[in-house]
Amino acid sequence: MPTIDPTAFSAALLAWYDIHHRDLPWRISPRQRAAGARPDPYRVWLSEIMLQQTTVAAVKAYYTKFLARWPSVSDLAAAPEGAVLAEWAGLGYYARARNLHACAKAVEAEYGGRFPETAATLKALPGIGDYTSAAIATIAFDEPAAVVDGNIERVVTRLHAIETPLPRAKPLIKAEIAALTPKERPGDFAQAMMDLGATICTPTRPACAICPVRPFCTATRTAEAERYPVKAKKAAVPERRGAAFVARRPDGAVFLRKRPGTGMLGGMSEPPTTNWSARADGALGASAAPFPSDWRRVGEIEHGFTHFRLTLEVWSAAVGDELAIEGWWSKPQDIAAEALPTVMRKVLKAAEIGSSEAERPSAVPQRRGRRLHGAE
Ligand code: ADE
Repeated sequence: MPTIDPTAFSAALLAWYDIHHRDLPWRISPRQRAAGARPDPYRVWLSEIMLQQTTVAAVKAYYTKFLARWPSVSDLAAAPEGAVLAEWAGLGYYARARNLHACAKAVEAEYGGRFPETAATLKALPGIGDYTSAAIATIAFDEPAAVVDGNIERVVTRLHAIETPLPRAKPLIKAEIAALTPKERPGDFAQAMMDLGATICTPTRPACAICPVRPFCTATRTAEAERYPVKAKKAAVPERRGAAFVARRPDGAVFLRKRPGTGMLGGMSEPPTTNWSARADGALGASAAPFPSDWRRVGEIEHGFTHFRLTLEVWSAAVGDELAIEGWWSKPQDIAAEALPTVMRKVLKAAEIGSSEAERPSAVPQRRGRRLHGAE
């Protein structure tokens, strides 16, 4: 692997970033930074947690809403968990929301509401793994840690035309980023690499002709940039099945309950469903309903999770007020604010629950394009 001169490389990259950086709501611009401004660690952390597995485009609206409702980590720590989950609904990977809240509480309790400043201390907090601790320490506190997300993996594998497939190439990529990251402006360097991957060194049809680091890149010379990163063959995605039961009262209210705190979609709300999980199918048919009624099958929905694809039969029944199981009635005007994950909004839609209330656009790409750095 030919070595790249780190000083020349980051000079070229940062000169490009100074002009072409993306304006993102959690960032400060290079100009603000040069004038002495520093990013708010709370904003950096919040954005990085949201950006785990989710695109920048999808995160922006959620980020803005969270920040308006909870302007500081202390405000978020004081919020009820249910409110945080409800605000998160639609972003997917719900363990992130519970960890987000747990982390805010830990920062409040253990550090008096100020984030610790090194990758090593950040990593001990809930929901903060290798990638996120490095990203926060580097962007918010100028620690030159090696930040590697999916965009950066793509850039590095192309720079060196790395034939080792992912995920096996990860240690090699990390070592290369550690060697390239400058002591000055390491946070801008990391974000510049991300922006390069997102706007120039794209998965398909990369814009090599206008790339600021083209002189350092091996893949572009062979006109084969798109071939990288080489990926290990994926196993087929398992299929799971289950059933969901949508009970309606005469006034249009829908019966909901809270899922157990741990496991798939932990702590989120749902119309009762059979016990499907990442490892097992749930029961099917009206006999699997949580209580007997005049259940009618109204359709089925599909939803892609990271490790499996779920099909849920959707059953519906008109029922009276009294149900002998735990849960609550949600009136049509209240459904939008419930902590309903996207899969459950699909269920309600299939049962024709006032579709505008049930629907919230999903922020998570359902089949392809899921990104970026691995789950933490
Ligand atoms: N993806 C993850 N973190 C990011 C950031 N700080 N800027 C742009 N994209 C990102």
